[in-house]
Amino acid sequence: MSLQFQLIGYPIQHSLSPWIHERFLSKANLQGTYEINEIDPQHSFEEKIMEMKNNKELNGFNVTVPYKQKIIPYLDSLDKNAKTLGAVNTVLNKDGKWIGYNTDSTGYVRALETKYPELTKERKSKHVLILGAGGAARGIYCGLDFAGYVNIDIANRTTEKAWEIAELRSELTNTDILTLKEAENNLLKYDIIIQTTSVGMKPTTENTIIHLNSIKKDVIVSDIVYQPIKTKFLKEAENLGARIHYGHTMLLYQALYAFEIWTGLSVDINNMDEELQQVLE
Ligand code: ATR
Repeated sequence: MSLQFQLIGYPIQHSLSPWIHERFLSKANLQGTYEINEIDPQHSFEEKIMEMKNNKELNGFNVTVPYKQKIIPYLDSLDKNAKTLGAVNTVLNKDGKWIGYNTDSTGYVRALETKYPELTKERKSKHVLILGAGGAARGIYCGLDFAGYVNIDIANRTTEKAWEIAELRSELTNTDILTLKEAENNLLKYDIIIQTTSVGMKPTTENTIIHLNSIKKDVIVSDIVYQPIKTKFLKEAENLGARIHYGHTMLLYQALYAFEIWTGLSVDINNMDEELQQVLE
């Protein structure tokens, strides 16, 4: 039996997902394909989705920008994560029923905790700062909240957007909202600092969202930007003695969760981290 997976979104011709999933399939000794199904926003989304519904051989698909919300009315059910976030990036076709998941959020936390496993025992004591309040920040905030982190502050240029994210928090979680300047002046408070915006991404590689002047010893500084692999933000953090966490690992782990949902199997992705770095460089 050959498995069929797809990615929908626009534009997605340069997506790394086919590369990642084809490797997962081969590592798991499974026959299958992972194809790009680019849906031009000028064309009918509904028509494309109906074509996919009629394809009984399709085992699952990933959803990326701009369809993570738009896909929801076509799904039969949503997992808790996707429901809270109101965004879906993975769909499982289970006996003709489409189930929506969000693995961006859980994938980020799994990537971070795989790199720094001691965090799993320290979730309640760690003070986290998220920089940015877009879709990525929203996913990471909920992922951390679900995992059991209870002190998660958000700093954003537009603080109203950060407040909207904080409304998603569970009962135990405390969140302060800060301006970027306030965050910059209070960095010593944080054990984990996560940059979630596109600032510093090629071609704006000379930009950083804030200056990392005084930071805690042993702080973990994470940047979800992965082109370049090591952003200026991460370089500055490393020069100040911080432990760093690269953005491309989020890509791998959100894909791994999706693969596990679709196949019920996991694969060892240890050396894929370096392989992916080479593909990106
Ligand atoms: P995504 O869905 O990929 O996270 P997004 O929804 O466009 O992208 O969100 C981008 C985030 O980056 C926002 O928090 C945005 O700040 P605002 O909410 O104030 O718009 C932030 N951002 C983008 N460019 C920025 C810049 N030059 N300086 C500071 N923040 C920036």
